[in-house]
Amino acid sequence: MINPLRGMKDLTFDESQRFVHIIKTSIDIAKKYGYGYIETPILEETALFKRSVGESSDIVGKEMYQFEDKGGNDVCMRPEGTAGVVRAFVSAKLDRQPVKQKFYYYGPMFRYERPQKGRLREFHQFGCESFGEASVYEDFSIITMISQIFEALGIGFDLQINSLGCTTCMPPYKQNLVGFLTEIKEELCEDCNRRIGTNPIRVLDCKNQSCQSLLVNSPKLIDNLCEECDADFKKLTALLDNAGISYLVDTNLVRGLDYYNKTAFEFVSNNIGSQSAIAGGGRYDKLVEFLDGKPTPAVGFAIGIERIMELVQMPELEKEGIYMGAMVPEAVESLFPLASKKRKETKVTLEYNSKGFKSHMKGADKVNARTVVLIGEDELNNGTVWVKDLESKEEKTIPLSVF
Ligand code: HAM
Repeated sequence: MINPLRGMKDLTFDESQRFVHIIKTSIDIAKKYGYGYIETPILEETALFKRSVGESSDIVGKEMYQFEDKGGNDVCMRPEGTAGVVRAFVSAKLDRQPVKQKFYYYGPMFRYERPQKGRLREFHQFGCESFGEASVYEDFSIITMISQIFEALGIGFDLQINSLGCTTCMPPYKQNLVGFLTEIKEELCEDCNRRIGTNPIRVLDCKNQSCQSLLVNSPKLIDNLCEECDADFKKLTALLDNAGISYLVDTNLVRGLDYYNKTAFEFVSNNIGSQSAIAGGGRYDKLVEFLDGKPTPAVGFAIGIERIMELVQMPELEKEGIYMGAMVPEAVESLFPLASKKRKETKVTLEYNSKGFKSHMKGADKVNARTVVLIGEDELNNGTVWVKDLESKEEKTIPLSVF
């Protein structure tokens, strides 16, 4: 028997229904905020992710499904969706249009991580990217939208936010931080030591407890923001306060991807184990330019579908559609035209085997049908069908042509 690869899984039965419900709910809400669907390739040039997600990030440094294709091109299975959407935005020259553009997407992402509960090598995201809006109102709007999606799915969350500053306040802060880290270098772990040279702010979210205890007194970017970033962050917290969305300011929240500036956020759940981030995102005002487009501010997020799968409260299934069956073999074929006609309006389950009454009623129950339509010997002879509404319990025999 051939099994799926480690860290990859099939979505069947209950899970696939949950998947569809999550995507449908998210799309319905994203559309209300003005987002339209975008589909980009799963395979992209490796350079795209190196330039956007960043060479020093774990995703690019350790986790990419990267290979040479038959034409000798260095390609990569997308580890996330933002880079591809930005590339598509620039490829289609949308950066030259004055209108604001908003896109939603969903699909598989690939990261060669060590699999564990909530951490897969192939997982799915639902994401949104908004281009052309520099206002912090858009950051607030996106956080509101995610809250609304989780509320509609019946999922509780904690929201963590931070500001990663901009090209004015980040570089002097980084220098300051490197100075601090260099002094405690000997006591920090190997990873942190490497990061001091490559991406010092990533040291702040080291998972190692002993490193974290040394970082308590590290300089915080939030205390060193420039005037504009500070005003934006204060505005964002005020908007969240007014909207009654609770949050925690986490000064160590830096995100695992290098393209962020200003607002960064994560939604976490404390009901799913150690892989607790259920959505993440933030502003990335320099990325379009970085991928050769015209400077365009942008902000977005992605939800990890598998992480919220168990948390979703599924709506109760309503009885739906028609179950059709015959109680004598000669009647089976007379059901085909009837099924075709009704399939233009609703779901029809057609049983090909002639069976007894009880057996058909069980079959209708199994598929959660609203209506049962049966043809027995009498009905066949009289050109009628027997119809029962399983909700109102009303039953009747009517001419075939009328049904
Ligand atoms: P991310 O935080 O890397 O952000 O991923 C978003 C979400 O994907 C995470 O919060 C988590 O729920 C889920 N996720 C990540 N890795 C795995 C995994 N190995 N197994 C299962 N689920 C996982 C991004 O990907 C950014 N592109 C988000 C964004 C969009 N920022 C701006 N726009």
